[in-house]
Amino acid sequence: MPRQPNASATTPQDDAFVARLLHWFDGHGRHDLPWQHPRSPYRVWLSEIMLQQTQVATVIGYFHAFLADFPTLPALAAADNDAVMARWAGLGYYARARNLHAAAKRCVAEHGGELPRDFDALHALPGIGRSTAGAILSQAWNDPFAILDGNVKRVLTRYHGIEGFPGLPAVEKQLWALAQAHVAHVPGGRMADYTQAQMDLGATVCTRSRPACVICPLQDGCVARRDGLAAQLPTPKPSKALPEREAVALLLRDGQGRTLLQKRPDTGIWAQLWTLPQADSGSALQDWFDSHIDGSLEDAEELPGLQHTFSHYRLHLQVLSRRVNGLRMAAPSLRWVTDDERAALGLPAPIRKLLDGAAPAAPKKRSPAKSRNRD
Ligand code: ADE
Ligand code: SF4
Repeated sequence: MPRQPNASATTPQDDAFVARLLHWFDGHGRHDLPWQHPRSPYRVWLSEIMLQQTQVATVIGYFHAFLADFPTLPALAAADNDAVMARWAGLGYYARARNLHAAAKRCVAEHGGELPRDFDALHALPGIGRSTAGAILSQAWNDPFAILDGNVKRVLTRYHGIEGFPGLPAVEKQLWALAQAHVAHVPGGRMADYTQAQMDLGATVCTRSRPACVICPLQDGCVARRDGLAAQLPTPKPSKALPEREAVALLLRDGQGRTLLQKRPDTGIWAQLWTLPQADSGSALQDWFDSHIDGSLEDAEELPGLQHTFSHYRLHLQVLSRRVNGLRMAAPSLRWVTDDERAALGLPAPIRKLLDGAAPAAPKKRSPAKSRNRD
């Protein structure tokens, strides 16, 4: 957490990001938001809490109504909790209102009825995270503290070409460092504008989808624009790990070098495709082998396993290979297939790959086949 504002004597020309953003804000930013006129710590705080999960257009009406009932911080602190919650009704995320009320009471008890200007004291209040504390201090006092909300994360990851999901601590740390470094170049008295400018650019130009790079004031220095990465940044949240499943398959060849294939049922994974006889466990496969084939599985060779990713799980398939004399009895779902015949049948891609690579005489050692499939 920053203890001290990172004050700097540098001029805005030192940082094109800051200079261009501020220049753009003067002509194109939002200057008529109700919490900007007048701009008091209490009004800025209230607006930031409301804006945490609600859009500007919705917040404006609630902001006026809330202030009509609770015009000052001490008035809010003294209010009945039911009255506060009732004024919040419709905005949702009611923990925000509970925290707001609790924080107001603490300000009365510990800070003389005012919102503290000290970063740590402000950050310690319920409902005020690091970015919200920065947003309040910069807008209420023009103090040099950075913000890092969703808009700013989007602009910074694109402008600097930062890869990795911004929710990861390491990436977030990097973004905070960049945000702080820019703040050091903001000219005195312009922090409120700079904070608002970042939010406005993120909301109107550097939007989530199809950012308007052609009219963006930051286009010259922007890595995402230069490298065509705007659509890929910020890096999305990694998808959850898929559940893993295991199965064992049998690659059986007869004296003529034909492979035994089994047709899958009409429904389920790999429905109606021809694949290797397969079971969920070694013992189930042993049972299947004992009832269909003369001989034993003991001396089967283990081939490199393969992995296949379905939409709902990842399959690890162990493959046992053995030469056999034939089937004990024919079954409609089982067929001895030559390499040429196989080409004309429908096989799951990873199984086809496995068989195409496994020479009949001496199965080659291969690295595990990996493939993705939307089955
Ligand atoms: N979101 C959070 N704070 C905001 C502000 N001051 N203006 C617009 N959107 C915001
Ligand atoms: Fe965002 Fe495009 Fe501007 Fe870069 S140039 S900051 S990607 S709008």
